[in-house]
Amino acid sequence: MSLTAKTQSFVLGMEKVGKLVSQTLDYTQRFLKAGLTTNDINDLVHDYTLTHGAIPAPLGYEGFPKSVCTSVNDMICHGVPRDTVLKDGDIINVDVTSILNGYFGDSSRTFIIGEVPARTQQLVATAKSAMEAGIEVLKPGLHTGDIGFAVQSFVRGAGFYVCKDIGGHGIGTVFHDDPFIPAFGKKRQGPRLSPWTCITVEPAINEKNSPSKEFAIPGSKITEIATESGCLSAQFEHTVLITDRGYEILTLS
Ligand code: MF3
Ligand code: CO
Ligand code: CO
Repeated sequence: MSLTAKTQSFVLGMEKVGKLVSQTLDYTQRFLKAGLTTNDINDLVHDYTLTHGAIPAPLGYEGFPKSVCTSVNDMICHGVPRDTVLKDGDIINVDVTSILNGYFGDSSRTFIIGEVPARTQQLVATAKSAMEAGIEVLKPGLHTGDIGFAVQSFVRGAGFYVCKDIGGHGIGTVFHDDPFIPAFGKKRQGPRLSPWTCITVEPAINEKNSPSKEFAIPGSKITEIATESGCLSAQFEHTVLITDRGYEILTLS
């Protein structure tokens, strides 16, 4: 079966932006250490993105004021960069979304600053493996509930908890599209994945079974989301292409 020209340009466009987002995270990662502020991370991501001919998607998205999300410790996601100074023992999720030639790529990693307890290392490792568990099952025709089931089973087995309030999404020529990709669910439930479309897999994992609390961001419809109990939360995200036989992770260098 040969792909239509439209599908070919979509795949190439998504591959290109995916690689750039991964390289942006690689670049930013080199500078991370205690003493840096989350505003400094914003500037690194913003400048690198523009230098490479892309646009930082968060800036102005639903009124979001910055170019990247930086979520520290108990912040689950959408942390707004500010003059908060990183210190040894912090964990921070850096979530980069760029637009290149009209295509969106979205990826995040959680980084450890200095030394953290073994349990915190396990939380971060579990968040990465949970994302991978959700990606490994991907293929056309799969139900979104199958992804959630794979993620949640893995996380419960590791002794941590998925955040049920956020999840992945369709992505392509828009930032957030259908289908919603939950971090929990039942096999064979939810919409099915179509070949030659892209989704993100981005489970957030909490140290404890805690509800979420939201903080308004002035002038924005987006809210910062943190754990209500103050427990730590970690997250990883990849943008993934569903092919005719499986998947391809796009946000790799
Ligand atoms: N990158 C986030 C996601 O994974 C969305 C951030 S929206 C923003 O879907 F406005 F907060 F940037
Ligand atoms: Co996303
Ligand atoms: Co993201």
